Amino acid sequence: MQKSDTEKKIQQRTSLAVSRRVQKLRDEIARLREAYHTKNAPNVTDDVYDSLNRELRTLLVQYPEFVDENSPENRIAGRPLDKFEKVKHRERMLSLNDVFDKEELRAWEKRTKKLLNENSKIGYFCEVKFDGLAVSLIYKNGKFIQGATRGDGFVGEDITQNLKTINSIPILLNEPHLPYLEVRGEALMSKKTLLLLNSKNKKAEKQLFANTRNAAAGSLRQLDPQLALERHLDFIAYDTFGLKNHSLNKHSDKHEMLRSLGFKVEKLEAKCNNLEEVIIFIRKFEKIRPDFPYGTDGIVVSVDSLDLQEVLGVIGKAPRYMVAFKYPAEKATTIVQDIKINVGRTGVLTPLAVFSPTLVAGSTVSKATLHNLDQIERLGLKIGDTVVIEKAGDVIPKVVEVLTKMRSGGEKKFVMPKICPVCGGAVKKKNVAEKTDTSVAYYCINPKCKAKDERFLEHFISVFEIYELGPKILKRFKDEGLITDVADIFTLKKEDIELLPRFGEKSAENIIREIGIKRKVKLSKFLWALGILHVGEETARDLAINFGTLERLIKANLDEMNEIENIGIAVSKSLYNFFRDKNNLNFIKKLEKNGVIVLKEEKKKNNKFSRLTFVLTGALSNMSREIAKEKIIALGGKVAGSVSKNTSYVVAGLEAGSKLTKAKSLGIKILSGAEFLKMI
Ligand code: IVH
Repeated sequence: MQKSDTEKKIQQRTSLAVSRRVQKLRDEIARLREAYHTKNAPNVTDDVYDSLNRELRTLLVQYPEFVDENSPENRIAGRPLDKFEKVKHRERMLSLNDVFDKEELRAWEKRTKKLLNENSKIGYFCEVKFDGLAVSLIYKNGKFIQGATRGDGFVGEDITQNLKTINSIPILLNEPHLPYLEVRGEALMSKKTLLLLNSKNKKAEKQLFANTRNAAAGSLRQLDPQLALERHLDFIAYDTFGLKNHSLNKHSDKHEMLRSLGFKVEKLEAKCNNLEEVIIFIRKFEKIRPDFPYGTDGIVVSVDSLDLQEVLGVIGKAPRYMVAFKYPAEKATTIVQDIKINVGRTGVLTPLAVFSPTLVAGSTVSKATLHNLDQIERLGLKIGDTVVIEKAGDVIPKVVEVLTKMRSGGEKKFVMPKICPVCGGAVKKKNVAEKTDTSVAYYCINPKCKAKDERFLEHFISVFEIYELGPKILKRFKDEGLITDVADIFTLKKEDIELLPRFGEKSAENIIREIGIKRKVKLSKFLWALGILHVGEETARDLAINFGTLERLIKANLDEMNEIENIGIAVSKSLYNFFRDKNNLNFIKKLEKNGVIVLKEEKKKNNKFSRLTFVLTGALSNMSREIAKEKIIALGGKVAGSVSKNTSYVVAGLEAGSKLTKAKSLGIKILSGAEFLKMI
């Protein structure tokens, strides 16, 4: 079928847009690569670089007409600096292809098996992928004679003098001596050393390092060995070449050999009989990773047999017998397609960045709150901008940076709407006091705004923890006239709900049961649910503990409220006025009449850990042992010096020793520093 003129025009336009985007991506990637590999730039993060690369690769698969053999993504990273002597590598220093999930790992196995014409099992070897600087060490007759960086893979820089300052690089190898040996590994800075270095640099107002890799690179790729010495670097060996007359069969044998020669080789490694075991190792390390002493970004998985490695060989710059499993990035790049407005419970207008679904920290996200106009201005964000989003763990994603170099000129400035996008009511600007300063917020001032009503309903129900009633169901109840306000929820009957299309008897029953259970709440929760201006969860708790009952709080005067610790004048005024408003008092009466029971708040101290005994061992990466002890005691728990069958938990940090072994043998629950932090 012939394409219409309009279709052709659209195609030309998208083709032009794609070609521009490809060029922008190439330029930015090249700039980051240059900064990263040759200038030791502290602010470049792997995640951003990888994310831009991924977008480029995806675009080139969709639009192969823009593939260019000579463009930077087809060249190996890094080139030697001029200030060091150049070293030609005897064996090219390769890179690894990345896989990001189980499926990609399985696809790699499938390709490997096909290449080997092998249907039976392949033995794998898993090891930690360290995030440092790859170096090659040359030994002649057992003596360290030269050390070099990877450079462009063919030619690196001679950094022998700096490497000699690293204690874990043996100057002389253990016997038997070998005429020639090359050892490859990662030069690293531990997380602890980086923390100390950065705090020292901060005091001296010097530049800080973004991660352990940049710190290691920055320390080794400068010309002063004294400075390298002060940086307390480490070296971990992972591969060796030149063992011509040795009868090694496996990659894992190489690790054993490196150990016996006197190298530090990471003990966390695994020989695996199949891919399932590989995946188990990957998951196991993922848990340890936050507390691991060194920065890591994944697991290197290799076909263990050296013969099979030989058969599989190298394609381009990467071997086919090895892949890097990368843990999910906590930062990614995306394009802000729009900035929408969310109207909150108090009428506050919150701008929301909307982007195409992007994978970050293991989940796909398509929205991020921008908080307020100040934030947009601080970021310098425009609609259409390429941005860096960050999501650490369970935290809601946020826009942390705008990549202004990626602009095409078509970006649009965001303006706050003059009227509420939900009800069309007037929008007013107000100064809001925050913890340390004030910011400007925009509010819809229509008290009857539908959005406010809906958000209040959702807030109230979520504080009451009535999980069966999600926002969509609440909206339907309201639209169908089942409820006029949240108090009506508590008089709903099974029959009312059953009649609605798509609600069966079972779901109606569940909803009614849940409402019945959750209608009793403590005063602190009730106050929080009321959505009084300035009364959040914490303030509600302080008020409830001090007043005990709702009656006392309603009758309290401003002075009585003000006397309470953490309650300022703004909170007192807001509370006092709230309880002087007839509508609010009637609403509370209606709730109580409909079956809500407000329980008296007990003045009890936090006893979350009562009857629990903890043993602390090893260095916790996220807090000192003293702090951990304080926290346990504050929560009513005990800290013991040794492990026994009465121990409830062992919190194990780095280099945990005999206590950990004993805990394991007694089957006592072991917590990592991160798990403990979550618990408290
Ligand atoms: S094996 C074929 N093992 O990862 C080259 N590499 O992306 C890979 N790396 O340049 C060598 N830990 O700097 C290997 N246990 C490990 C590693 C490791 C970190 C780095 C190395 C290399 C890069 C490849």
